[in-house]
Amino acid sequence: MVLYESQYTSDPVPSAKEASDRSKINNLLIVISLLTSLAFLILLAAFLFYCYTRRKFKNKESKKTTYDYTLPTKAVSQEAQVFTYKQLLLATDNFSPLNVVGHGGFGSVYRGVLPDGRLAAVKQLDREGKQGDREFKVEVDMLSRLHSPYLLELLGYCADRNHRILVYDYMPNGSLQKNLYSDGTTGSPILDWPTRMRIALDAACGLEYLHEFISPPIIHRDFKSSNILLDGEFNAKVSDFGLARLGSDEINGYVTTRVLGTQGYVAPEYALTGHLTTKSDVYSYGVVLLEILTGRVPVDMKRPPGEGILVAWALPRLTDRDKLKEMVDPALEGQYDMKELIQLAAIAAICVQPEANYRPLMTDVVQSLIPLVERRASSKATRFSRFSSQIVNMKSSSTDRGSIV
Ligand SMILES: Nc1ncnc2c1ncn2[C@@H]1O[C@H](COP(=O)(O)OP(=O)(O)OP(=O)(O)O)[C@@H](O)[C@H]1O
Ligand SMILES: [Mg+2]
Repeated sequence: MVLYESQYTSDPVPSAKEASDRSKINNLLIVISLLTSLAFLILLAAFLFYCYTRRKFKNKESKKTTYDYTLPTKAVSQEAQVFTYKQLLLATDNFSPLNVVGHGGFGSVYRGVLPDGRLAAVKQLDREGKQGDREFKVEVDMLSRLHSPYLLELLGYCADRNHRILVYDYMPNGSLQKNLYSDGTTGSPILDWPTRMRIALDAACGLEYLHEFISPPIIHRDFKSSNILLDGEFNAKVSDFGLARLGSDEINGYVTTRVLGTQGYVAPEYALTGHLTTKSDVYSYGVVLLEILTGRVPVDMKRPPGEGILVAWALPRLTDRDKLKEMVDPALEGQYDMKELIQLAAIAAICVQPEANYRPLMTDVVQSLIPLVERRASSKATRFSRFSSQIVNMKSSSTDRGSIV
């Protein structure tokens, strides 16, 4: 303070040199403050970028877990429940015709009430005693250890004497087949486009689970619209997986006597050589997508020439925008999203490729369908919760694998 006063009083008028020094200092100060602001801005930008990438990464991570699957956690702890024949007689009111919910190649399916009050579908296999008691039990035990929200739960079985009966979770809305081809007399509502998309994704998740999460993989062998069952909220579950094995004669992966599966769904290489891989299921899945898209059955010889076999008729049309519009199930009355239709058609086309190696993995199909369903789910928050609430154990899914469309 004293120094300042003495300096000021001794020479109140600054010299030219001092003035130029001051202006230099001022310039320097300006430059320094500019540099500081610039550095601050750079730091701020870097921080914002860090926050942005972190959030993006977090989102990606949360998406990854949202669509992960329930692992077969009960595998070691829970075995199939064994029912006595008497218990199932009681459950189905002596297998009353009034309780029949459907008939299939393996026998009839009855609606029943289990001793604990649960509703069940009781499937009586009419190939009684074809397999040894032990072999049947081992096979069914193995199937009952698979747990996924996308697979129909096998609750138990009965192997009393010659009886071969499987007991499943009951699906009140029946099969996809029944719903797609409802003639209006069954009272089933027409499946709208968003429901069809969700069913396509659920079914793909079911197959992906069998192919990718089970070791060795389980090939369904008879994937079709009647083996996709719908619960009260039209959540789809794949059924009858592994069942075809119960009736097959097989050596080293080759079916020796006859090709199993259903006409119109069987992959060409399997039909020709009996050689079965997971890619045979992918072909059948593609046929189901075509059913969902067109509302047509896989084989219908009553249709005009060239239209009887669904795959042969549809394949060349799937990549033509105008023809694609003409193919859509008329029951939808034009109520669909064109962008989603194009994507679904692209997935179907690649799944039904005659060359097995060109077909995608089910994981790729799942990843391609997720954005279509997710878009709607996030705006409506309907079934989105289903995917997240089912998670028991996490397994890193292949979210980073490329989509096929
Ligand atoms: N768990 C279930 N809940 C409700 N309905 C069921 C259940 N399982 C089967 N059904 C009904 O019974 C019908 C017959 O089923 P099933 O599995 O025996 O034969 P399918 O799948 O139609 O044909 P296939 O035996 O040739 O494979 C199904 O189409 C479905 O409508
Ligand atoms: Mg079935």
